[in-house]
Amino acid sequence: MREIIKNKGSVYFSSSKWDILNTKINDLKPSTIFILVDANTLKYCLAFMLNKLEIKDNYKVLEIQVGEVNKNIKTCEYLWNQLSKNSADRQSLIINLGGGVITDIGGFVASTFMRGIQFINIPTTLLAMVDASIGGKNGVDLGIIKNQIGVINNPAMVLICREFLNTLPIKELNAGYAEVIKHGIIDSESYWDKIKSFKELNIDEMDTIIWESVLVKNNIITIDPSEKNIRKTLNYGHTLGHAIESYSLGHNSITSLLHGEAIAIGMILTTYISHIQCGFPKEKLKEISTYIFNKFKKVEFDQNDIINIIKLLEHDKKKLDNKVLFVLLNDIGKYQLNCEVSQDKIFKAFDYYQNLDKN
Ligand code: GLY
Repeated sequence: MREIIKNKGSVYFSSSKWDILNTKINDLKPSTIFILVDANTLKYCLAFMLNKLEIKDNYKVLEIQVGEVNKNIKTCEYLWNQLSKNSADRQSLIINLGGGVITDIGGFVASTFMRGIQFINIPTTLLAMVDASIGGKNGVDLGIIKNQIGVINNPAMVLICREFLNTLPIKELNAGYAEVIKHGIIDSESYWDKIKSFKELNIDEMDTIIWESVLVKNNIITIDPSEKNIRKTLNYGHTLGHAIESYSLGHNSITSLLHGEAIAIGMILTTYISHIQCGFPKEKLKEISTYIFNKFKKVEFDQNDIINIIKLLEHDKKKLDNKVLFVLLNDIGKYQLNCEVSQDKIFKAFDYYQNLDKN
């Protein structure tokens, strides 16, 4: 049965998920339901969802603009005002229908409006299904610094419906797959072996991979919900990946990258650093980096780009005692937390990435 049942943050991927959602909404007895969408989920997902719900006209749709650049306090202010103007109260419910930006910002707005109202996540992208919608991390960016403002607060429930993936462009689907790959590398040889056997992303074969990926994440957040130790492994590749993503969104010298695309590069760089710093096996480095490299478009970084990306690392939230700390691996599924990495090794890692297609 593809269900994880908890007090808060239950995840449903079973055939009865929509019935469970209807029961949940009945139990919560919301005074008003707000459905948060962007232009894409308004167009491609809202009618499908409304068709499954028993709510009739007791809802209001709130729309925000598409994209990570809108995941900021200005958008929160707009949403808090909309809730206020539409007489939201502490019994109101927000349903977040969308990808990681919608679940991050919708969860944050719900967690802070009137000191917290209930919210439900219905992820519509692969990335949000396997990662962003689960585990209660909600937040927004501060300028170009990713997820700098936020709270950990679990949704009333998460409903995963794979049909929404049919509405996604392949580029988005691929970007989400980066987080699935991450779960493989940090979890175990056996899960990594399964992932690497998927050569092409085939939507009909995705159910197993989605659910196993959800289970990997759920195991980790259950042990360490507030990221004191093992949850840090979910940031594998993200220290450099976030800096690359921020840089790509703010500069013209490299193309704008989706979160997963930047994390894919971050994972190659971090696996290389793991090899030279922690003895991560060379043949597995080659296997992982080739697998990821072949799934994503190569980005060309010049010296100036790399210097600026290293500067952005300074803003990393996981900085402690003024040091940027990485999660590294000794082997697949064997992690080392809070590792300091020299700039020299970061430059070498970019060099390794740039030359992956030349070996
Ligand atoms: N996306 C990383 C985490 O939820 O901890």
